[in-house]
Amino acid sequence: MLKSCGKKLAISIVGATVSCLVVLLVAAQHQVIQVAEVPIESEVGMRSLQSLDSMDTNAGAPSDQSSELQSQDSSQAGSRKGFSAYFSKLTRDRRDVEKPASQAGSTTEATPAEDINPNDIFIAVKTTKKFHQSRLGLLLDTWISRNMQQTYVFTDGDDEELKKKLGSHVINTNCSAAHSRQALSCKMAVEYDKFIESGKKWFCHVDDDNYVNVQTLVKLLSRYPHTQDVYIGKPSLDRPIEATERLGDNKMRPVNFWFATGGAGFCISRGLALKMSPWASGGHFMNTAEKIRLPDDCTIGYIIESVLGVRLIRSNLFHSHLENLQQVSKSELHKQVTLSYGMFENKKNIINVKGAFSVEEDPSRFKSVHCLLYPDTPWCPLQASF
Ligand SMILES: *[C@@H]1O[C@H](CO)[C@@H](O)[C@H](O)[C@H]1NC(C)=O
Repeated sequence: MLKSCGKKLAISIVGATVSCLVVLLVAAQHQVIQVAEVPIESEVGMRSLQSLDSMDTNAGAPSDQSSELQSQDSSQAGSRKGFSAYFSKLTRDRRDVEKPASQAGSTTEATPAEDINPNDIFIAVKTTKKFHQSRLGLLLDTWISRNMQQTYVFTDGDDEELKKKLGSHVINTNCSAAHSRQALSCKMAVEYDKFIESGKKWFCHVDDDNYVNVQTLVKLLSRYPHTQDVYIGKPSLDRPIEATERLGDNKMRPVNFWFATGGAGFCISRGLALKMSPWASGGHFMNTAEKIRLPDDCTIGYIIESVLGVRLIRSNLFHSHLENLQQVSKSELHKQVTLSYGMFENKKNIINVKGAFSVEEDPSRFKSVHCLLYPDTPWCPLQASF
């Protein structure tokens, strides 16, 4: 299992890091990150307003953003610029307000904005047929077993065993099993469509190497109204990613935006997800991903931050295997929303938990975490003490 994690890591580095970071390095050289942010934001805000306009008149038909961009009416642009700059400021202020709370890892102190329960959340788990036994098996034995109603598994091959356990909650996306940018975007597109179809209030995406503490997830999301624009997760970079947007006529345009890393999991409110529809529903997600040539999670960030002008709310409660998991405090373990395991910088990367099972018996540590959270689980040792 760890071998395959290593392989996955290598692939993620080659795939995500090369495509994401190479452009970043170029950005750093040109020193555009801070300077370019304001004009691009307001221009982008303007575009999203135009897109919303066209959604109204075209009854939701997707608009061609490239032609809109080139046909901007300069007299309208002025008032729209002020308008969108105002909203950009509002969202930035909101993000700044969020920062201290989420950095303190607190989900409990804030007053809830909405009373939600686990069934209001759609949790999409992305996997591939090769990992049904190993990775998914572990999740089914642990956190998914407690959350069958809100968990949906998105894979790329039929599996009768899995179907017996999950029924309609296992979805064969018919996407390629390759770990390519296109295959990943193909799965994200299906996740998005199924979420919209579900009618649930929150969309959360995780990978098949994530443990989800659904109780803390509910607490975190209840701080925000699902009808507002909420995009929450953990950025994998310490600055916005700089990408190139392909417009029509062979024109290119630099864009920069924050995105939540898919490997740590992220959530989107229904209100925001509906606004994403022209760029994310049906086949549009794949087209959008092609336009910026970045992986699925970057594309989500692009649609939300660059196109719609909504800011990512950062939370340190989400964890991927591409961060040092030893740094997750043992005493704060029960407060985290997602955990992970795998390889990082050529070393085994697991959380530090003393628990019911040894590292040999429970290499991911997920079984130990699960017994810590739910000691009444039949297979947890009775005398478990933490
Ligand atoms: C995948 O293909 C099968 C068989 O053609 C079909 O029934 C199913 O709906 C497809 N899945 C998706 C997500 O489109």
